Amino acid sequence: MREIKSKVQFNNEVARDTYLMGLKVEDEEFLAEPGQFVMLRLSQATDPLLRRPFSICGTTRKNTILILYRVVGRGTFLMAAMLPGAELSILGPLGKGFRLPDPGQRTFLVAGGIGVAPLLFLASRITKHSPRLLIGYRSQNEIIDISGFDLGGVEIVLATEDGSTGYHGVVTDLLASELNRLGGAPSVVCTCGPPAMMQKVSEICLKQGIPCQVSLEAAMACGVGACLGCAVRNASATDGSYYHVCKDGPVFDAMMIEWESL
Ligand SMILES: Cc1cc2nc3c(=O)[nH]c(=O)nc-3n(C[C@H](O)[C@H](O)[C@H](O)COP(=O)(O)OP(=O)(O)OC[C@H]3O[C@@H](n4cnc5c(N)ncnc54)[C@H](O)[C@@H]3O)c2cc1C
Ligand code: FES
Repeated sequence: MREIKSKVQFNNEVARDTYLMGLKVEDEEFLAEPGQFVMLRLSQATDPLLRRPFSICGTTRKNTILILYRVVGRGTFLMAAMLPGAELSILGPLGKGFRLPDPGQRTFLVAGGIGVAPLLFLASRITKHSPRLLIGYRSQNEIIDISGFDLGGVEIVLATEDGSTGYHGVVTDLLASELNRLGGAPSVVCTCGPPAMMQKVSEICLKQGIPCQVSLEAAMACGVGACLGCAVRNASATDGSYYHVCKDGPVFDAMMIEWESL
């Protein structure tokens, strides 16, 4: 992990309030694993003071880091206004990423909305496994344009809660029906999205004895294990001990997390 200088190469709107940013790293090679994240300094001034965490959504051969983000507050508002050529300081890559599935395992990647970001990186690394990427949205007007990603070999299935496109219902029901259809074939699931969605995915997997990895989010001040601000409760410890999402994660085995504490 180190501080790296980058320049915005592009910053394109890919859905309402959602952008794909390409950050070109000059002078040095940027190597990252799916599931790792970066901390971005979004202002040269003091507002916002703290860096913001973002999953690495991909890397290109031309040493460009892809960030898929949704505008939710001051930092991401500033980010959305950045033009090509703007300089941005990156801290990373940070954290522990996904364990890559074995080639023989049927792999389901289950995303809730913007949670698709780290799963796109993972999907691009395991295209030979023919993973199924299930993405859930509330409605079709939220669908993120991912046509710019090289995902040949990845089967993408959409679910919308209002039924406006794809499977009619929540993405966790779509996962359950796909797993039932497979009838117990060896599978593995990786997921990222709202905590309630990931908890449901982990319950479905637990019932069927399917390994499940979850990519968690938490408020982060430092991103490197120093401030202890990103704690989540460890499910197996009786002494109430904690993991730190930035250092021990953000990717965890679903069984490691005490979901009720999130
Ligand atoms: C490991 C990790 C990876 C992440 N990857 C991505 C990513 O790939 N794409 C992306 O868009 N976001 C991602 N996030 C979330 C992102 O860090 C926040 O959206 C961002 O920090 C918000 O900054 P802000 O200054 O715009 O908003 P703030 O001013 O900090 O917050 C504005 C409002 O948004 C809420 N908010 C802040 N963070 C989140 C959040 N994580 N989820 C929901 N609401 C939030 C706040 O409670 C507040 O109400 C990730 C977070 C973590 C911890
Ligand atoms: S963000 Fe500081 S310890 Fe995790």
